[in-house]
Amino acid sequence: MLKPTGSIYVHLDWHAVHYVKVAMDEIFGYGNFRNEIIWHYGARATVRKSGLPRKHDTILLYSKSSKYTFNPIYRPYKDTEMKRYNKRDEKGQYALIKRKRRDGTVYYGKSYVNEKGAPETDVWDIPTMASTSRERLGYPTQKPEALLERIIKASSKPGDLILDPFCGCGTALAVAQRLGRRWIGIDAEMPACVVMQQRLDKLGSRPEIIDEVELMTEAKLRDMKPALFQAWAVKAVQGRMNRKLSADGGIDGWTIVGDPIQVKRSDRVGVKVVREFQTVIQDDNRMGGIIIAFGFTSGAIKKAEDAKSKYGINIELKTVKELLQ
Ligand SMILES: C[S@@+](CC[C@H](N)C(=O)[O-])C[C@H]1O[C@@H](n2cnc3c(N)ncnc32)[C@H](O)[C@@H]1O
Repeated sequence: MLKPTGSIYVHLDWHAVHYVKVAMDEIFGYGNFRNEIIWHYGARATVRKSGLPRKHDTILLYSKSSKYTFNPIYRPYKDTEMKRYNKRDEKGQYALIKRKRRDGTVYYGKSYVNEKGAPETDVWDIPTMASTSRERLGYPTQKPEALLERIIKASSKPGDLILDPFCGCGTALAVAQRLGRRWIGIDAEMPACVVMQQRLDKLGSRPEIIDEVELMTEAKLRDMKPALFQAWAVKAVQGRMNRKLSADGGIDGWTIVGDPIQVKRSDRVGVKVVREFQTVIQDDNRMGGIIIAFGFTSGAIKKAEDAKSKYGINIELKTVKELLQ
């Protein structure tokens, strides 16, 4: 699948990286191994009696052949490094560096500050996202955009195609979109696809989910974060999400015909919820809507039947079980 001039980055932690390295050597060839990148994601650690605190993951970089794109990476100089560059002439800021001639004699040469920054090495200091980060989407394994930005900039040009076959909430895709690359994402989980679709929507792309591999179970949905469960439920009835997560006026999404959708994590959605949803539908000048939940009381079912017979309002009560079928 990878182009002859393409590169592949495989991100792993200590559990698997050494086994996968051996497999990658077999598949791509030992000679096409380019870098073992250490992603150092945090400095704060607590003492462990069983060993050193783990603070890095490994990213293996292979190219398909000896012809591949690689754009060197630069990082800002650290203050301590800048202290060496304490002289200036018409060409810029420089440090005097002691060098040796072939005959062993010593002289001082000028080393100028590189305007692009200091060359980045194979050890990357990129913190994981803070819990308050604006980047956070609530997807459990979301990676920082800074990490993906480095990878994509280093190994591709604008217009190139990026594939992330385990793309979670779509960090690689969002960065690729922002950097003018084309992209394809794959994820086995429906909520991931929905979250990434919305993320890319906001960046002005109109992504399509072209195939759905349904591996979802009721147990997984019960464990899921509320926003992800909501995204799954709305998508399961081919709906469109309400982007407002709070103060949403009781509307979590809309069906293709524009009727409101409400999602509840309850096993016993009762009369009150149905009554209030009927008001939401009427306030929205609609004649129908869907409530999705794990279960409904008999009172709620009766209330929905009454709404239909007395007011012609069609409130569909859909259980998660039905949607999974
Ligand atoms: C570590 S997460 C990726 C996180 C992503 N980089 C981000 O920033 O959100 C790995 C993803 O792989 C997906 N996954 C696991 N097994 C898969 C499979 N066999 N096929 C496709 N996706 C899979 C999971 O659903 C999960 O979203």
